[in-house]
Amino acid sequence: MTSGTELIPAPRTLLGGEPGCRSLDKETRLDAGPGTEGVARWLRATIGAATGLPLADGRNTGNGIVLAVDPDLPPEGYRLVIDGSAVRIRGGSAAGVFWGAQTFRQLLGPDAFRRAALRPGRGWDLPQITVEDSPRFPWRGLMLDVSRHFMPKDGVLRYLDLMAAHKLNVFHFHLTDDQGWRVEIERYPKLTEAGSWRARSKFGHRASPLWEEKPHGGFYTQDDIREIVAYAAERHIAVVPEIDIPGHSQAAIAAYPELGNTDVIDTTALSVWDNWGVSANVLAPTDNTLRFYEGVFEEILDLFPSEFIHVGGDECLKDQWRQSPTAQARIEELGLTGEDGLQAWFIRHFDDWLTARGRRLIGWDEILEGGLAPGAAVSSWRGYQGGITAAQAGHDVVMCPEQQVYLDHRQDGGEDEPVPIGYVRTLEDVYRFEPVPPQLTEDQKRHVLGTQANLWTEVMEDHARVDYQAFPRLAAFAEVAWSALPAPRERDFADFERRMTAHYGRLDALGVAYRPPAGPLPWQRRPGVLGRPLEGEPPNV
Ligand code: ACM
Repeated sequence: MTSGTELIPAPRTLLGGEPGCRSLDKETRLDAGPGTEGVARWLRATIGAATGLPLADGRNTGNGIVLAVDPDLPPEGYRLVIDGSAVRIRGGSAAGVFWGAQTFRQLLGPDAFRRAALRPGRGWDLPQITVEDSPRFPWRGLMLDVSRHFMPKDGVLRYLDLMAAHKLNVFHFHLTDDQGWRVEIERYPKLTEAGSWRARSKFGHRASPLWEEKPHGGFYTQDDIREIVAYAAERHIAVVPEIDIPGHSQAAIAAYPELGNTDVIDTTALSVWDNWGVSANVLAPTDNTLRFYEGVFEEILDLFPSEFIHVGGDECLKDQWRQSPTAQARIEELGLTGEDGLQAWFIRHFDDWLTARGRRLIGWDEILEGGLAPGAAVSSWRGYQGGITAAQAGHDVVMCPEQQVYLDHRQDGGEDEPVPIGYVRTLEDVYRFEPVPPQLTEDQKRHVLGTQANLWTEVMEDHARVDYQAFPRLAAFAEVAWSALPAPRERDFADFERRMTAHYGRLDALGVAYRPPAGPLPWQRRPGVLGRPLEGEPPNV
């Protein structure tokens, strides 16, 4: 392989690679076949801008980029051929053509990742090459928590671009939590008027004595959400919204106190939480709460066309329900098995409600505890077990075990990792992560839709911190999710590192503030911040 063909994620097959086969220039024409118009738009907006070339429409010129849908290829698969006569990208669908266009961009070199041409008129040499490729998993996800720290819309659009560059295709949008509600719901304006702001934030791990004494917040209007969803769709990324119930709901209760357990505490005294961890303030199991959240989900369904809707379901503390006469009466009336039965009742209600509207529920693995409708799916986060149980019970599953792919966890044990929390999970650890549990039978393995990396943002207050935690590990994760890698111990990490040398150039051109291989740069350190978990505490914040 020669310089310029160090692709990430690695394709299934790559033949050739000799440089200097042909060049893009101002005569290069773009021939977009039926169904590939969106890919052509993307090519002009990105590669057109980076090269300064017009890439005007044109056919049979002998100097063309030819895009075509070929239903004989796998749905997201593509075949990219560059030879003396053309650049040809055929895909099993528009998505396949789009992933082929991502590979094409990598072949042009790092400057193809800039937003404007450095030297208009320079040559853009391409190798002679044939790449045949298709993904291992249909769900190649990234979760972004915008509750703990809000990421303004432009930052989200930028992350969608970064996902596309790595052939990731599911954006799990964690929109609500104890520390902030981030999506406008027209019928409940206080969710964002009151629920999207907190007075101050804990700086570092929850055991840190440091506070950031300034208000933090923000939210997406419904038009912002429509723009994000449309931008993602142009990049063949599905946006799966998460509205977390019945726990992780303090921001909603602070906005609408009647949603909380009013017979246990004075919920009118609650504010959006300023600390990290798991709040004891959870939703009251009342008909009023169900109707309120049906109203929320009605607007969510209008905004998000995705098949899956995430309802959270994780870490719901049961103390208030134990103390609440209303909750206890509900348990009695419905004949439930204690407070765990109440949690299951909540999830089951929205499982049925979403199924009746043609959508599928997905939730964190705690939702398995109460029995689920057949179409419901599980995000396995507390290790592999939830995923194993779900797949054995015939449910689809997305593997995102915290021990492996929680990218808020530190990537090195060194003293100068910024605000270190959680397990040490290095680039190599992520590269050797295997999403499919070996205990599953072949039939059960088919329930593993794919895998997802999760970015919880308690200690990531801005883009640069998110970039630092995500990269370069997200590149390794993308290869795990896309490429046909061998078993973890047999994976060629040295070859991945060699290809990463080229990839760092692409990330530099994209302006990604990744963790350099030699460790954080001086400005990336956070000296003096108490970020480590206390003795005996769980590793995540
Ligand atoms: C989670 O990390 N609580 C899903």
